[in-house]
Amino acid sequence: MERIKTGIPGLDEILGGGVPQGTNVLIVGGTGTGKTIFCSQFLYKGVEDYNQNGIFVTLEERAEDLRREMMKFGWDFAKYEKENRLAIIDGTSAKLRKRAVKEKYSLIGMDIDALIIEINRISKEINAKRVVIDSIPSLGLNLDSEKEVRRSIYRLSALLLEIGVTSFVTTETLDGGFSRYGVEEFVSRGVIKMDIVERENKFVRTIYVRKMRETDFAMEKYPFGIESDGIKIYTRGEVF
Ligand SMILES: Nc1ncnc2c1ncn2[C@@H]1O[C@H](COP(=O)(O)OP(=O)(O)OP(=O)(O)O)[C@@H](O)[C@H]1O
Ligand SMILES: [Mg+2]
Repeated sequence: MERIKTGIPGLDEILGGGVPQGTNVLIVGGTGTGKTIFCSQFLYKGVEDYNQNGIFVTLEERAEDLRREMMKFGWDFAKYEKENRLAIIDGTSAKLRKRAVKEKYSLIGMDIDALIIEINRISKEINAKRVVIDSIPSLGLNLDSEKEVRRSIYRLSALLLEIGVTSFVTTETLDGGFSRYGVEEFVSRGVIKMDIVERENKFVRTIYVRKMRETDFAMEKYPFGIESDGIKIYTRGEVF
């Protein structure tokens, strides 16, 4: 089985070389824990260092905001978009039933089937090997129907596995649990948890792998930092 490097210092070491090629990983964490930066790094480094093109489906932040924020880490999304190596699908105006006018790729209306068709089409167009969906709770699923929520999440996850891309999908935690709807972790082949915890009156960012099929990973909670060039996981007890 082939493993791919995530591009996040420390993570591949924890995972014994990287994530299995073609797997889907759920990134779980509360607000501000670093999920969007983590996923952006996975996608950007995929292109820059490993020649793997990628798609970022952004449902919370507008594509233009995402580009600007990521530029602070030196990640020039626009450059790779022009070269057709990265595509951002902007779904933030979808709830207003409008396209994001300035964007090449956007969604009208938040419909899981339409999203699936778009990901499928664009992944072929740019030969994508990595996909990020940020986030499940902003898919606007019909919460009155548990069956529909399950079905949607299941279909999305099945598509990602079927087209063979390696995907990182974010979701929120509800106190103590692993995901917003309590189903995401079961349809994901991997789960990574990000957190902010209190230690001696200071807040520390932590990360651990909860599940990763086909992988013998380190069962440890690691501190990590968000630095000028992105996320770094401290696996060797470094002082930070
Ligand atoms: N350039 C930077 N250098 C250091 N830390 C940063 C930088 N940019 C953002 N951060 C930190 O990262 C946090 C946000 O990270 P991110 O947006 O990835 O979190 P998130 O889990 O996606 O949150 P949300 O719930 O808003 O989606 C900010 O609250 C800030 O503390
Ligand atoms: Mg976010």
